[in-house]
Amino acid sequence: MLDTTQMDPRELRNAFGCFASGITVVSLRDDQGKPTGVTVSSFSSLSLDPPLCMFSLGKTQMSCRWIEEGSRFNINVLSHAQEKSAWQFAKPMDDKFEGIDWYEGQNGIPVIEGSLCHFECDKWNVYDGGDHIIVVGKITAFERSEGDPLLFFRGKIATVAA
Ligand SMILES: Cc1cc2nc3c(=O)[nH]c(=O)nc-3n(C[C@H](O)[C@H](O)[C@H](O)COP(=O)(O)O)c2cc1C
Repeated sequence: MLDTTQMDPRELRNAFGCFASGITVVSLRDDQGKPTGVTVSSFSSLSLDPPLCMFSLGKTQMSCRWIEEGSRFNINVLSHAQEKSAWQFAKPMDDKFEGIDWYEGQNGIPVIEGSLCHFECDKWNVYDGGDHIIVVGKITAFERSEGDPLLFFRGKIATVAA
């Protein structure tokens, strides 16, 4: 048992990793209007009325700046066939959408083809969350399709049949 005086951030991270989650890509546009995105497993549903969802972003991530400066983003829930996208959007790249099929959502923000579901969001609010920001989005449109999910557990990406 580790108490707060002995808490090693790496151990804490490993402990957080015991919580299995799905994987999303938050897509958005940078200050030049160029499509970009970031792999995010901290996504969660939040409210039905009004329709809200949330995720957290490390304050050092580039995407943090585009979230702070922009007003819209999309959440793409990845399917079991999109592991490549999960890794691609988790590393620094000039063109994060290189080789990725996408189309423009109703809000003008990229939607990744083949995702299990996507939510188009207006930025509702951003809260401080220590070394992360907590981003709450108001869902303006969404679409879901059939398929199996991509999972994140103990730092590894896994698939499971629904
Ligand atoms: C499966 C997975 C889940 C991740 N989830 C998050 C997350 O919830 N929040 C976060 O800030 N970074 C998360 N990351 C790390 C970012 O995707 C990564 O740091 C990315 O390079 C940031 O890109 P940017 O600097 O262009 O914003 C995750 C990475 C992976 C592989």
